[in-house]
Amino acid sequence: MRVPLLDLSQQYRLLSDSIRGEIDEVLQSQQFILGPKVVDFERALAAYCGAKHAIGISSGTDALLDVLLALELGPNDAVITPAYSFFATASCVTRAGATPVFVDIDPATFNLSPDALAGLLESCRRDAEGRALDRAGRIVRAIIPVHLFGLCCEMDAIHRLAGEYRLTVIEDAAQAIGAEYLPADGKVRRAGTMSMAGTLSFYPSKNLGAAGDAGAIICHDDQMAERFRIFRQHGMEPRYFHHVIGGNFRLDALQAAILKVKLPHLESWSAARRAVAARYRDEFDRCGLSKGVTLPAEPYRARGLTNHHIYHQYVVRVPRRNELQKHLTARGIGTAIYYPLGLHEQACFAGLGYQAGDFPETERAARETIALPMYPELTSEMQRFVVETIAEFYA
Ligand SMILES: Cc1ncc(COP(=O)(O)O)c(C=O)c1O
Repeated sequence: MRVPLLDLSQQYRLLSDSIRGEIDEVLQSQQFILGPKVVDFERALAAYCGAKHAIGISSGTDALLDVLLALELGPNDAVITPAYSFFATASCVTRAGATPVFVDIDPATFNLSPDALAGLLESCRRDAEGRALDRAGRIVRAIIPVHLFGLCCEMDAIHRLAGEYRLTVIEDAAQAIGAEYLPADGKVRRAGTMSMAGTLSFYPSKNLGAAGDAGAIICHDDQMAERFRIFRQHGMEPRYFHHVIGGNFRLDALQAAILKVKLPHLESWSAARRAVAARYRDEFDRCGLSKGVTLPAEPYRARGLTNHHIYHQYVVRVPRRNELQKHLTARGIGTAIYYPLGLHEQACFAGLGYQAGDFPETERAARETIALPMYPELTSEMQRFVVETIAEFYA
């Protein structure tokens, strides 16, 4: 039996008629850039997320870049990101002209650790306005919590610290569309909607995937939404008058039309992913592996949330990770390592002056974790084969 890490073919078979119909419509209209298909998708997406505005963007990376450019950061500014994330979370900070400052993760959730964040901020000198200064004296202006693998960060704790240190919060929700969090005010919120702005990715392998690159910004504030739209089109308003330097971050009409067909299915896909996660738990229990293999934490499960986790990835912590990966590959089981290196150890960030050992939990996660096959259509037989093959390795 072969079990790929991800298989999108069944999803496409289910929706191919509607998707092809939408593609035809766009081709007939010959309107490819922004236009009604993008506006329709933006409305549906905003409603789904519970945000006032959704702005269609060319990718999750460009969504982060657009938001950071709109903050008009400069060389005297710094932005906090977790040391354990996809590269774009940090690279966009640098591309927007500021400097990333890394913080370690929580070992159970792999999300930014509020304790580590508090420790970092407390160790900083502060300026007259109470803002933290990084080691080089740059003002720490913002923070980008990343809702990694489909689980929301502890946003209450992050917002408390952000308030104290006057940080703008931008949620990188690239992996977490629809994931829920229950803040202290008791109103359930979806990933990306709890802060000044949230960014989403519709990279094809995401829970809501386009047929190419696509992304979005979500926010509540009318003025910020307008600003993000202006930065999406070269900082241009009106046409050919440029007050700020933005980029070409527009979402294609074709991608928007395809995403609009898929969006109504997202809730059932997320539920199916949770069912897959529950079956993995049963299988690991049955095979007596629950002690050796650390399964994903579900810290919000007991809070009565539906999408307490949306399992974009199913990431486990295991002994002898690299050998296990080879064993699974040899048996036809797809896996991935998200991520083999902390951001502070990436060659391109060497100039920031971090060293191995600076973020022990990030480094441990980079050594010990592996993503197993996860998609709504994964069958119990396939899962049993995955877990039995893992059991065979440790036997
Ligand atoms: C956490 C995170 N941030 C940002 C991005 C960038 O999104 P995109 O690939 O759409 O540019 C990704 C995509 O993998 C991601 O996982």
